[in-house]
Amino acid sequence: MEPYILGHSEHETRRLILQHQIYGPITRRFFEAAGIGRGMKVLDVGSGAGDVALLVADLVGPAGRVVGVDMNAGILDTARERAAVAGWRNVEFHAGDFTTVVTERDFDAVVGRWVLMHVPDPVTLVRNAAARLRVGGIVAFHENDFTYPPTTFPPTPVDTELARWLVPPPGGRGPEMRMGTKLYATFLDAGLPGPQFRLEAPAGGGPDWPGFEYVAETARSLLPMIEKITGVKPTEVDLDTLGARLREDAAKHRAIQMLPLMFGAWTRKTG
Ligand SMILES: C[S@@+](CC[C@H](N)C(=O)[O-])C[C@H]1O[C@@H](n2cnc3c(N)ncnc32)[C@H](O)[C@@H]1O
Repeated sequence: MEPYILGHSEHETRRLILQHQIYGPITRRFFEAAGIGRGMKVLDVGSGAGDVALLVADLVGPAGRVVGVDMNAGILDTARERAAVAGWRNVEFHAGDFTTVVTERDFDAVVGRWVLMHVPDPVTLVRNAAARLRVGGIVAFHENDFTYPPTTFPPTPVDTELARWLVPPPGGRGPEMRMGTKLYATFLDAGLPGPQFRLEAPAGGGPDWPGFEYVAETARSLLPMIEKITGVKPTEVDLDTLGARLREDAAKHRAIQMLPLMFGAWTRKTG
């Protein structure tokens, strides 16, 4: 596992909140399509700050149970606090590698979002995750694909410049930016039946669309890594005004912003 490339600053917390506003409904629709619902016992691999586990807690309801695991013990404190504030009693979080921390093998579903893109061996992770399921249980992973990076239509000058800074060249070190399109082969290599897919990209414009600020905060969190890869200097990017400039530029061109596609892949364990 590479160190988590986005860091854990105050800005990163703000970024996670915006991220959940934008992606929460998309992840929920994906899990519903995958068949996750009332009364199920679900394992969430790589819970981070807990957004997915809390969303699943709502889907499974009080008769269900969610077990969230993350190797980063610190971020789980945030996840636990959020679960307590939301009043959910059916969610628990455990620190460690899920392959050693979770011994139960009768989960109805195992889920993960933005986990496979960060691990060196996604096939092994999916195989180990499926081993925690009962036969017939659901495997559901939700991952980005940066084949289409954040883009405005029509293209605007600030957005075009941003793409140059933000998108690392293909084949470099760091997270797998094309994980979405690799999910099918990953499931097959893990010994699972070919998954079904649900694809959705966030898109919007105008004064209430949170995507401009979200992209700016993501650029802020990613910059230390991007600087190493592309040599871009923080002074070139002017992060403090980036969100506002993206918004103004889009408004001037009556443009919409589309964020990278989310690929949701799900299947059922057959044996
Ligand atoms: C980008 S975060 C995703 C957070 C969350 N799933 C979400 O969608 O907001 C990925 C997390 O996966 C965790 N992780 C990766 N491999 C893991 C493993 N084998 N066991 C437990 N956690 C793991 C990392 O520590 C990291 O916090």
